[in-house]
Amino acid sequence: MGEVRELREAARILKDARSVLVLTGAGISAESGVPTFRGPEGLWRNHRPEELATPEAFARDPRLVWEWYEWRRRLVEACDPNPAHHALARAAMTRPGMRILTQNVDGLHDRAAREEAERLRPDAEQAAAATPLELHGSVLRARCTSCQERVPLTEPLDTSHRDTLPRCDGCRALLRPDVVWFGEALDPAILDEAFHLAEEADLCLVIGTSAVVQPTASLPRVTQSNGGRVIEINPEPTPLTMTADLSLRATAVEAVPGIVAAPRGGAEA
Ligand code: OAD
Repeated sequence: MGEVRELREAARILKDARSVLVLTGAGISAESGVPTFRGPEGLWRNHRPEELATPEAFARDPRLVWEWYEWRRRLVEACDPNPAHHALARAAMTRPGMRILTQNVDGLHDRAAREEAERLRPDAEQAAAATPLELHGSVLRARCTSCQERVPLTEPLDTSHRDTLPRCDGCRALLRPDVVWFGEALDPAILDEAFHLAEEADLCLVIGTSAVVQPTASLPRVTQSNGGRVIEINPEPTPLTMTADLSLRATAVEAVPGIVAAPRGGAEA
């Protein structure tokens, strides 16, 4: 099947689906300039996760961990959502039954949703539908290591000394990045919702993830075992490619805007 035909087929499946779970990974933000984790220039090529992204690393050297997350926060703050983030935000706002679930911690789905909300002026329900579920947290927030209070990070942090690291306004305990580290459990409420959405979905649209980190990687299988379909968009094959109903070898920006632009029940793609 040629590429254009595959894109049309994907648009048709999406248009016919009543409920759609969009599952994204680092690849959707690659064309915004955010590095992925496992690619040739990926973060895990040059950094050891166990030194930077584990509770043990933070207990050992919170300053080093904060320095790394500050570097990543500055990096994503300098990037903008790309046409794939925007197209998904618009689609989630304008067609009922679509939710975006992301493994990304870069806040770009959320920014795209806020920017689209400025343009489209959705009602509260539509705006909520475009707000992504963030499975792995966000580098744009911190969380208290004691009382668990979450705070947005808006100003630069001084990570030069342990004494200057951010502290909770309420209880004065050390703050930590509000991200899920290796060895930590995902938020059970978000995980429950993710599995529920995967079960209910007629279509799981998987964009830009290597599909190797569990339990997220099993969500497309949940959709399929409940009778739904899976479409993958990724320039490289992944472990999901063999079982996906349709796998498009394309980047997110090449494929997503065209596929999601067709409104549900609208004109033929
Ligand atoms: P990975 O870096 O493992 O995979 C990124 C995927 O995006 C790869 O399959 C690429 O082929 C694909 N890709 C690259 N450029 C693309 C583009 N322009 N359009 C579409 N796809 C593209 O990132 P994730 O799968 O998101 O967890 O990684 C999952 C988790 O592992 C991350 O959330 C992170 C990491 O360890 C934590 O930090 C907890």
